[in-house]
Amino acid sequence: MPMSRVLLLGSGGREHALAWKLAQSPQVERIFVAPGNAGTACEAKCVNVGLAVTDWPALIRFAREQGVGLVVIGPEDPLAAGAVDAFAAAGIPAFGPTAAAARIEASKAFARAFMARYGIPSPRYQAFTDYDAALAFLRRADFPVVIKASGLAAGKGVIVPAAADEAVAALRAMLIEDRFGPAGREVVIEERLEGREVSVLAFCDGERLALMPAAQDHKRVYEGDRGPNTGGMGAFAPAPADETLLETMVATILQPTLAGLAAEGTPYRGVLYAGLMLTAAGPKVLEFNCRFGDPETQVILPLLASDLFTILHDCAHGGLRPETVRWHAAAALCVVAAAAGYPGAYDRGDVIVGLEAAAACVGVKIFHAGTTLDADGRVRTAGGRVLAVTAWGDDLAQARTRAYDAMSTVAFRGMHYRRDIGTRSSS
Ligand code: AMP
Ligand code: GLY
Repeated sequence: MPMSRVLLLGSGGREHALAWKLAQSPQVERIFVAPGNAGTACEAKCVNVGLAVTDWPALIRFAREQGVGLVVIGPEDPLAAGAVDAFAAAGIPAFGPTAAAARIEASKAFARAFMARYGIPSPRYQAFTDYDAALAFLRRADFPVVIKASGLAAGKGVIVPAAADEAVAALRAMLIEDRFGPAGREVVIEERLEGREVSVLAFCDGERLALMPAAQDHKRVYEGDRGPNTGGMGAFAPAPADETLLETMVATILQPTLAGLAAEGTPYRGVLYAGLMLTAAGPKVLEFNCRFGDPETQVILPLLASDLFTILHDCAHGGLRPETVRWHAAAALCVVAAAAGYPGAYDRGDVIVGLEAAAACVGVKIFHAGTTLDADGRVRTAGGRVLAVTAWGDDLAQARTRAYDAMSTVAFRGMHYRRDIGTRSSS
């Protein structure tokens, strides 16, 4: 097979991890990252391209000019807006679901109704566009609830109310005050589940799937799972899940989801990410995402023993060979270094020091997230989550020690991170 050129869309830690792993493939000649970050700017085989992730005409023109053989899409926004459909119409293969299949993430009301149609284990729920009807349901519900904006809200659309007035305020904010924009004009009120959370991701080709190691994210900003939710302050893999539990997840959740989407004429190609709660009654779906997780990808890809390009290419062409997807018997852990103020308004433009020393650590890779190169070639902060300091080892304890040792060598003004990623007390 001739070597391929890849166009990768996105600019976070997830995309740096994808670029790094794709660059290891002997089948990949070059990776164009649009728009990328300082990490992808310096990665082997990679070139950043200053194009926006939803500017289809410019991206398609660029992909044609450069002879791109595969487009890989990181974030949910371009997927939900139809990136894969646009590239397909232009005859360019792209890895990811179509807009219709991406509704599994882009509309929580669609996702819950879909799960109900196929008997996929889920909390009790109801969807509303009318405030009075939502309020009446809330008053009647004899279970603790979670309120969700149905549309994409960058991880901020889920409210787990501590008291009844908070639930009412959330409904008002979404349905009356329009504070979540179109995303909040429909809400899902659902039963609050109890248990341990786990992220299970699978490569899918429309019909078949290959499971990735289970991962655990740490969403709250402060140690001990306190403070507001973030995009994710760290992760590790594999998360505890024995063979029987994994088989249950595939048989009751992932496989029926793939079969249902195919039966409805919207076969799912791409990464299907199931956010699950391990309840006393078995695993139940908190949410589906239509893409790789961030920072889950940073801990999953270092464990992949197979060629990532082959897997993504096979999925995009409907020919995944699950038996060819193999994993190292090892563990990986990632700690996110965030900017002062994150997850609220945060600083940017600060110089990051110590990156070379961190890169020299054994079993460590510093994935960049919100970073940029200045005119003098210095790396500066440019986002809320700045670095995803990742390490791997024989077991979680070794990966954890290596990640925190590497973290102690990097610094920027106001940097903060959690010191309890991958410890028993955190989740
Ligand atoms: P989501 O974006 O839907 O995964 O929600 C973000 C976070 O909210 C999840 O990771 C859970 O911690 C929490 N959450 C969402 N739905 C529920 C639920 N039904 N019960 C309990 N917690 C939930
Ligand atoms: N880490 C959570 C997500 O990617 O949605």
